[in-house]
Amino acid sequence: MENKRGQWGSSFGFLMAAVGSAVGLGNIWGFPYKMGANGGGAFLLIYLILVVVVGFATMLGELALGRKYGRGAVGTYAAIGKKWTWVGYMGVASGFFILAFYSVLGGMVLRYMVGFIAEMFGMTGFGGLGSGEFFGGFTTNAGSMLIYYAIFMVLNIIIVSGGIEGGIEKFSKIAMPALAAILVVIIVYVAVQPGAGAGYAFMFVPKFEAFATNGFFNILRTAAGQMFFSLSLGMGCMITYGSYLGKEQNLDTNMVIIPVADTCIAIMAGMAVMPACAAFGMDYGRGPGLLFVTLHEVFSTGMGGFIGSLMGFLFYFLVLIAAVTSSISLLEVCTAYLIDKKIEKGEEPDRKKLTLIIASIIFVVGIPVALDGLGAGRAGGAALDIPATFLGITENIPMAVDCWLDLYDCLAEGIMMPLGALMMSILIGWVLGTKVIKDEVEETAGVKLTMYKFMEICFKFIVPVIMAIVLISQIMDFFG
Ligand code: PHE
Repeated sequence: MENKRGQWGSSFGFLMAAVGSAVGLGNIWGFPYKMGANGGGAFLLIYLILVVVVGFATMLGELALGRKYGRGAVGTYAAIGKKWTWVGYMGVASGFFILAFYSVLGGMVLRYMVGFIAEMFGMTGFGGLGSGEFFGGFTTNAGSMLIYYAIFMVLNIIIVSGGIEGGIEKFSKIAMPALAAILVVIIVYVAVQPGAGAGYAFMFVPKFEAFATNGFFNILRTAAGQMFFSLSLGMGCMITYGSYLGKEQNLDTNMVIIPVADTCIAIMAGMAVMPACAAFGMDYGRGPGLLFVTLHEVFSTGMGGFIGSLMGFLFYFLVLIAAVTSSISLLEVCTAYLIDKKIEKGEEPDRKKLTLIIASIIFVVGIPVALDGLGAGRAGGAALDIPATFLGITENIPMAVDCWLDLYDCLAEGIMMPLGALMMSILIGWVLGTKVIKDEVEETAGVKLTMYKFMEICFKFIVPVIMAIVLISQIMDFFG
């Protein structure tokens, strides 16, 4: 059974794959602007505390459960007890819906990368348009959106078809060090631009007055939501990756290395993005428009010339790597479910075929995300209306239905993921008992769970409370 499912070839390979899953659009896109807009250094402080009191334990819980039961999300929860299987299904469903919109975004990143390559060679990569105009035209162009979305999905299929060691691990081992190297190049280049300083100040200077203006609770829930999405927790991704770990792998250190590496990359991403915006006079408080509109302008008009195109290419290449190493982990959660089912039935799992089937279904489900102009709808020139229109809602449109992307995000990140993490911590803390986790960690010769007492408090009290806060506030955000 072990061989049919596959296994990581090395500890380094596993770490690159797991850090690759964690480091994604969330780090490069979400973290810098959320940090800047929510108190800078004050936000960072809360974020770091949350990584320690929620991130470490949840990461450990998922990896340990996965390795213990040797199955994906559904198989693991089913093995704990039939009545918990639904938690595993929520994980697979989360992976399914996140991958659908994540791949549309990944395709867009690919388009921007291609545009900057063309500009490097003196061609017009963006139709000679300004960043805002290009963005509007591209996102409402059904053909382009679908083609880049399809290419991105095919990339995922190729990698995941290759298996754990021969596909995911092999790709991540090259891609993640490349990502880190490119990030350093951009950080250094940006640091020497005049005016960059204001960007660091925006990010790092603690603005404790934000606790009063934004509200402490708001900052806490923003940080907590960002943290668990960024660590790929709550949907069985780390359970699935953990299920391919051998008993010789040290969970006691891995549960710290992955969150620390993810946080470092998020901070580094901010040190590339925010000062770049500051140096070229772009508005970095613009939120979600940051990744496409603002940064496109930074590279094409701000930096300009060949160096601008080169930096633009490097930057979107980096984002593409981050997106692919995350999306393959989402696809793997779904593929692993099908593989486990085959094995359970005593059949030979055909990974290539199963990957192709599930990815094709996800692709179809994601098509509306690529067609509604990211919320522009038919009124804005897109091919498809937003979900609210189908529901007949025309005023006070809740975020959950203001575009197809937000609808899928709401189902996954808004409801199923925090509920999944909440259920897991309750299961470990109150039903199974934390000793199960400790025993699994200590299966490795010579390894002791160093923070056992602390972990117990996290599983029993801190993680459930924080996850309940995230769940409630996400629902408020999406439906408020
Ligand atoms: N952690 C990824 C990011 O920050 C997203 C992700 C979530 C990936 C859940 C896998 C599972 O973009």
